[in-house]
Amino acid sequence: MSATMLQLTNLHAFYGKSHILHGVDMRVGEGEIVSLLGRNGAGRSTTVKTIMGLVDGQGSVKFRDKEILGQKAFEIAHHGIGYVPENRDIFPKLTVHQNLLLGEKRGKKNPRWGADDMYKMFPRLKERQHTEAGVLSGGEQQMLTLCRTLMGDPDLIMIDEPTEGLAPKIVELVAEYLKELKRRGVSVLLVEQKLTIALEISERCYVMGHGSIVFEGTPADLRANA
Ligand SMILES: Nc1ncnc2c1ncn2[C@@H]1O[C@H](COP(=O)(O)OP(=O)(O)OP(=O)(O)O)[C@@H](O)[C@H]1O
Ligand SMILES: [Mg+2]
Repeated sequence: MSATMLQLTNLHAFYGKSHILHGVDMRVGEGEIVSLLGRNGAGRSTTVKTIMGLVDGQGSVKFRDKEILGQKAFEIAHHGIGYVPENRDIFPKLTVHQNLLLGEKRGKKNPRWGADDMYKMFPRLKERQHTEAGVLSGGEQQMLTLCRTLMGDPDLIMIDEPTEGLAPKIVELVAEYLKELKRRGVSVLLVEQKLTIALEISERCYVMGHGSIVFEGTPADLRANA
């Protein structure tokens, strides 16, 4: 088993008085792709937002053995956690290239990659580098959001429903680039509703229902329990 990178223990989360997560336990190992699956409203986005310091939590979130629950989002990002939210979060009036540069972390020594690497991975973004991001297709905006987060050189990236609303061919492309991230040593926590790419690329899966984990296992275990 790979070393633990992210460990949630008995995590609870709240929006004001609504109690949404009820004691979530989950782990992501170094170099793993792990999926967090579940229906609408199960609490998947709340889980990643709580890890990221965007929702109030109780319990424990450890990243490389350090407690990060209670820290601010910018501090958590600084430890090496990247977050790609479910709504494509680009600056529509800025060009593709300007959007990418906004993701860079100033002062980071020897980042794993820069804009040129993004363009190599996604030639489509290179073709569009001087285009206003607002006119890109949904799939291209999804790639751009991902790339902007990668420009900050995270060691763990959490991606919320990257395939939502994309054509099947583009969904396959998303699966390919997530595998490429893993090859480059980035761990991935993939949030999905559909099982398609999750079962194809994950080492392990968690299924969430009503704010707690109801199943944990390999894609093969999950298929057998479908
Ligand atoms: N800002 C908020 N304030 C109050 N309740 C919220 C808020 N955001 C989400 N919730 C509630 O928390 C529960 C979990 O929502 P969450 O967004 O985590 O679900 P999800 O698993 O990501 O599903 P989906 O993305 O399909 O909506 C839902 O009941 C939702 O209504
Ligand atoms: Mg969600």
